[in-house]
Amino acid sequence: MEYRFLGRSGLKVSALSFGSWVTFGEQVDTDLAYNQMKTAYDAGVNFFDNAEGYENGTSELIMGKVIQKAGWKRSDLVLSTKIFWGGDGPNDKGLSFKHIKEGTEASLKRMQTGYVDLLFCHRPDIYTPIEETVWAMDQMIREGKALYWGTSEWSAEQIRKAYDFARQEHLRPPLMEQPQYNMFHRHRVEKEYNMLYKDIGLGTTIWSPLASGLLTGKYNDGIPEGSRLGLEKYGWLKEILLDTEEGRSKIEKVKMLVPIANDLGITMPQMALAWCLKNKNVSTVITGASNVKQVEQNMSAMDVVEKLDDKVMEKIEEILDNKPGEEQDWRN
Ligand SMILES: NC(=O)c1ccc[n+]([C@@H]2O[C@H](COP(=O)([O-])OP(=O)(O)OC[C@H]3O[C@@H](n4cnc5c(N)ncnc54)[C@H](OP(=O)(O)O)[C@@H]3O)[C@@H](O)[C@H]2O)c1
Repeated sequence: MEYRFLGRSGLKVSALSFGSWVTFGEQVDTDLAYNQMKTAYDAGVNFFDNAEGYENGTSELIMGKVIQKAGWKRSDLVLSTKIFWGGDGPNDKGLSFKHIKEGTEASLKRMQTGYVDLLFCHRPDIYTPIEETVWAMDQMIREGKALYWGTSEWSAEQIRKAYDFARQEHLRPPLMEQPQYNMFHRHRVEKEYNMLYKDIGLGTTIWSPLASGLLTGKYNDGIPEGSRLGLEKYGWLKEILLDTEEGRSKIEKVKMLVPIANDLGITMPQMALAWCLKNKNVSTVITGASNVKQVEQNMSAMDVVEKLDDKVMEKIEEILDNKPGEEQDWRN
């Protein structure tokens, strides 16, 4: 396993990490979660991602139980949770000081840990002033409930505003962002955040590297039984990813990518994950899995990164045909 610095911090995260969205509490019970996390841990994963909103807290409960059962040293782990969707009450959602404090404390209890290493604002909250959120996140760090804080799916402008306010007030600034990043979803990570990597040392913990499974090729001939896009509860995801013109065109592109993976003697999941790992602004690729075999396959992506040389990357680029445009050079 490779360990990368999380942005401009002294914290090292495994380049491949493991998260529990959709799976823990829905497809995966505590025993299976134990086997999955142990497989990931044995492959060198130190970062495990979670959120208060995943299965209404059940995902955090399961992860907490697994960590207790495994008996891992807390200092060997980088644990996260994300605050935003904590329940149905008027103060159970969003990024007010009240919800950040109460949500974080409830998450820590469920995860059976005194602190999370990474605390994320799961989305921007258009109703709460960014200043209040920065102050609350700083307070969580001062209280020892989190070591670093960051954002998820915030625009570059929102992150910059939070950072500048924190600097001005001598509060802890955000360190990392958790954006979606995969072959089909590139703009923010490859373009919008560019200045932030340089200026504020932003780290990224990227999600859905396989586009919820699309990039494994498993949906090329329909929906296999038991797979994510066949789950009744996640019909909305299927509607977005498969039932649109865009979705159908993505499947066509995956079909064209398969021969490249075959020629390299690797699988589509390996190629799609390795493609994310090639991006040096990606601190860690958060993988997800519904069984142990997938975890094993996904961890093996680490071994094939070198196979994606410039020529292969060019071939992939031709098929994807979605590279975000370069900055205009008006001098030439
Ligand atoms: N911050 C956010 O807003 C946000 C949003 C989403 C996710 N996340 C985080 O990012 C993590 C990863 O996201 P994700 O689960 O969407 O990642 P993903 O890699 O795009 O999708 C994972 C799913 O693809 C299928 N899969 C994975 N490996 C496979 C393989 N080798 N062969 C065949 N199928 C495979 C599995 O689903 P099936 O077997 O069911 O088909 C698995 O659950 C989450 O667990 C969560 O921690 C964060």
